[in-house]
Amino acid sequence: MNILEPQIEDYYYRANLYKDIINRLKQMGVDLNNVSRKDIARVDEFHVGGAEISKELAEIANIKNARLLDIGCGIGGPCRMLAEEFNCDTVGIDLSKEYVITANLLSKLVGLHHKTKFIYGDAINLPFQDDTFDVVWTQHVQMNISDKMKFCSEIERVLNNKGCFIYYEVFTKENQKVSYPLPWADDEKISFLAESSIMNSYFKEFGLIKGQFIDQTESGIKILEKSLSRMPQRQSSKLGLNVLMGSTTKDKMTNLLNGLKEGKIHLESGIYRRRE
Ligand SMILES: C[S@@+](CC[C@H](N)C(=O)[O-])C[C@H]1O[C@@H](n2cnc3c(N)ncnc32)[C@H](O)[C@@H]1O
Repeated sequence: MNILEPQIEDYYYRANLYKDIINRLKQMGVDLNNVSRKDIARVDEFHVGGAEISKELAEIANIKNARLLDIGCGIGGPCRMLAEEFNCDTVGIDLSKEYVITANLLSKLVGLHHKTKFIYGDAINLPFQDDTFDVVWTQHVQMNISDKMKFCSEIERVLNNKGCFIYYEVFTKENQKVSYPLPWADDEKISFLAESSIMNSYFKEFGLIKGQFIDQTESGIKILEKSLSRMPQRQSSKLGLNVLMGSTTKDKMTNLLNGLKEGKIHLESGIYRRRE
């Protein structure tokens, strides 16, 4: 068992999360018999930039019709987007049971349960056979994973011969100290920020080569500044990432923004493919 599992589950746990989302939708006047991905978009993707950035990654990597695994899938928004807009057959895995339950119920709510499946499990011990997926995908997950080598080796193991790994993550710069809370941790106990070169060196060892990558820091700063400037006007009953981050949402986003602006951390997306 991953010894961090209880702490990570605890950190992300929100009691009756699905019910909470439904209640907020009701308050917003959404017809519960006719809910679309658009209605839940503000809470659906738990990373800087939401669905827009997920679409950008999927387009760059050209992953139409792929069998795809999303590691650390959260409440499932990226899988639903990839299923609906890129015809991917998606499986999401997450260490939070509450998120997995919520992800499956949300897919049913918006009619995407046939193309998305969410299961409980650990990134460093994936319950899949070798060569199962065309694409493995992670967004804002690595920061919670201490064993980077096992993380990379598991990704390589479940990818098929032509497969690719797509990521969008927060990395440290020279292990500089950041302020907490952050969106993925209240303190350092479950936060394992690393330089992107660490991931690169493991993948190289396992035969995966880094292709196109994008520094997303500047656009991330703009997105965070915009959301923070709007935040005071938002009512707490509204559906947003506040539902997942709780009462310290503003502090978490501010610390993330400051870390990016001060150059202590950076946002990067990219793709790895097998060596020819
Ligand atoms: C910041 S959220 C991002 C969720 C999702 N990737 C998204 O972008 O919407 C990080 C997620 O990683 C999950 N996670 C953390 N460590 C994990 C592990 N070892 N195995 C599987 N999931 C993990 C958490 O439970 C949480 O749902």
